[in-house]
Amino acid sequence: MMKEEETEKRIVSGNSSDDEKNAELTLRPTRLSEYIGQQQVKDNLSISIKAAMQRGEQLDHVLLHGPPGLGKTTLAHIISNELGVGITASSGPAIERSGDLAAILTNLRDNDVLFIDEVHRLNKVVEETLYPAMEDFKLDIVIGEGPSARSIKLDLPRFTLVGATTRAALLTSPLRDRFGIIHRMDFYEDRDLMEIVTRAASVLGVRIEENAAYELARRARGTPRVANRLLKRVRDFAQVKGNSTISIDVTKSALDMLDVDSVGLEKMDRLLLEAIILKFGGGPVGLDTLAAVVSEEQDTINDVYEPYLAKLGFIQRTPRGRVATELAYKHLNIKPGKEKKQGDLW
Ligand code: ADE
Repeated sequence: MMKEEETEKRIVSGNSSDDEKNAELTLRPTRLSEYIGQQQVKDNLSISIKAAMQRGEQLDHVLLHGPPGLGKTTLAHIISNELGVGITASSGPAIERSGDLAAILTNLRDNDVLFIDEVHRLNKVVEETLYPAMEDFKLDIVIGEGPSARSIKLDLPRFTLVGATTRAALLTSPLRDRFGIIHRMDFYEDRDLMEIVTRAASVLGVRIEENAAYELARRARGTPRVANRLLKRVRDFAQVKGNSTISIDVTKSALDMLDVDSVGLEKMDRLLLEAIILKFGGGPVGLDTLAAVVSEEQDTINDVYEPYLAKLGFIQRTPRGRVATELAYKHLNIKPGKEKKQGDLW
């Protein structure tokens, strides 16, 4: 691949060569009517999209926030499909310079969608270039350096920025204020996930019993991406065992073998809870300390693991640190008072 093409690939669409990622793409719905769950978000978006189309205008900028794997990227693509416009996809860390952003913006057509994933990770200079682009569809860029530097103003196509983030709190207020439509995505209900699993099984061309789909849904931590990943692993299991239909028995055995427990916790979730309880007497313990103990990135613990543990009511995030609740003790079958205190040997 030529160097320029590689650079372009890095900035728009990132690295999507990964097979698992491509397979997931085919499982994604392409229209709002196929999108299961998140009813309130769908209803509101549907109105905003219809109104913008009736006026023949671009849709207001949209911010989607919430835990990973809930369908923010899928929704961004659906928005462009519903509007009947093009979409350019990039991510915060991929847009390193204002010039990268300028190249993307000047290549858009009127009413197109620009999707920026991890929008909280844009650097300051790029973010400030984005403000006038979002507000007035104008680009102010400085070309060159030193005495020969000059500033040019460009008119841009009227586009819609769809920003996605797992960390709405990290967005600066000037950026957040420029989004006219803001939606929070929440964990899915079991019955929605069950429907998603059933739909995905049919896309993959595999039969699944109703109670097996329900079992998968219950153990998918409220997250379609997890549900679809587990479905593929269970399908492997059924295939190797010579079963043409995914049954409840196969599902249970496969999920047990994958170490996914009855409420969807995986090894790292249990490690985190056990660390809080057994090493720190149930907490509070700071995120930095916890991260060091379980050898995981703070951001990953914060964005990926903790939201679901908090939703289950297993942890509380207090100003002094993370605390394990009675429910967590019960789930892990540890009696309060029996845990070891900090400094004790395991
Ligand atoms: N696949 C992943 N997320 C989905 C959703 N919300 N609806 C339908 N299929 C999905």
